[in-house]
Amino acid sequence: MTSIKHVGVVGAGQMGRGITEVCARAGLHVTLCDVTEDRARAGLAGVADSLLKAEKRETITSEDRAHALAGVSVTADLSRLSGADLVIEAAVEDEQAKTALFRQLDEVVADPAAVLASNTSSIPIARLAAATRRPEAVVGLHFFNPVPAMPLVEVIPSLQTSKATEQRVRTFATEILGKKAVVAEDRAGFVVNSLLVPYLLAAVRMVGSGTATAEDIDTGMTAGCAHPMGPLRLADLIGLDTVAAIGEALYEEYREPLYAPPPLLRRMVESGLLGRKSGQGFFSYRAA
Ligand SMILES: NC(=O)c1ccc[n+]([C@@H]2O[C@H](COP(=O)([O-])OP(=O)(O)OC[C@H]3O[C@@H](n4cnc5c(N)ncnc54)[C@H](O)[C@@H]3O)[C@@H](O)[C@H]2O)c1
Repeated sequence: MTSIKHVGVVGAGQMGRGITEVCARAGLHVTLCDVTEDRARAGLAGVADSLLKAEKRETITSEDRAHALAGVSVTADLSRLSGADLVIEAAVEDEQAKTALFRQLDEVVADPAAVLASNTSSIPIARLAAATRRPEAVVGLHFFNPVPAMPLVEVIPSLQTSKATEQRVRTFATEILGKKAVVAEDRAGFVVNSLLVPYLLAAVRMVGSGTATAEDIDTGMTAGCAHPMGPLRLADLIGLDTVAAIGEALYEEYREPLYAPPPLLRRMVESGLLGRKSGQGFFSYRAA
């Protein structure tokens, strides 16, 4: 089993940035890829910003920061991932887009034993694996947001993932990245989102039906249940488009009404109100 030294990260949004940061901080060489050079560079700027904040908090030194940044390169050309030992796909939560990406990754990543992992929140890994000629090397590796701060990673083997691949990414997550790993079966939502998303959708329904304001619902759960963040701020942090997409995938899998994205959530996404990343969701994140 070769060690993992070069990681490709596909998608330079909030998750791709966080995954890039933790891999670079672990001393790995990371190639971060997005659909345009501009998006990839914006991703790198986000990583640089986060590393600077970590240095100011004194969790890393200026040498650590410089070393981590020096290990990251950005591109809009997927073929630059050809030498990767592990690719972590963190592109938009859209099954067609991810399936197309896995087909391309299978073509460009040269080492047939290189692992192709997805950070998907809800799409069955088996469907991504079926787009490749190496289903034994395809696995789910689901990080949590913000990646540098959240200790958990879910490892999701599909029915075809080899034990060696599962063990390799588990060791990578725990020993190289220092995360806590849990293994979940290949069912939409895995462990955490199967439990979390119906709760977030219930909070959105409460706003939609006028039961309480977003502020009061969040205060209810922070002050009444000691949650560190209320459900609507958490939905804004995840991204309302991502929450809706996960709800759709869970509903498609289980056909339970509690997973169906409510109309208010759909209208907000259609209006570009995506939460923190767009500046407005249930709360405003624009500078006053
Ligand atoms: N947001 C969360 O809290 C969270 C947590 C865990 C997992 N996830 C999962 O991580 C993935 C990414 O989520 P995010 O919140 O970072 O989304 P995001 O919207 O912040 O970023 C998505 C990025 O993917 C890029 N992209 C789209 N198609 C691409 C392609 N073909 N090739 C390369 N890049 C492409 C977009 O340009 C964008 O930069 C999703 O699968 C999501 O379900 C999200």
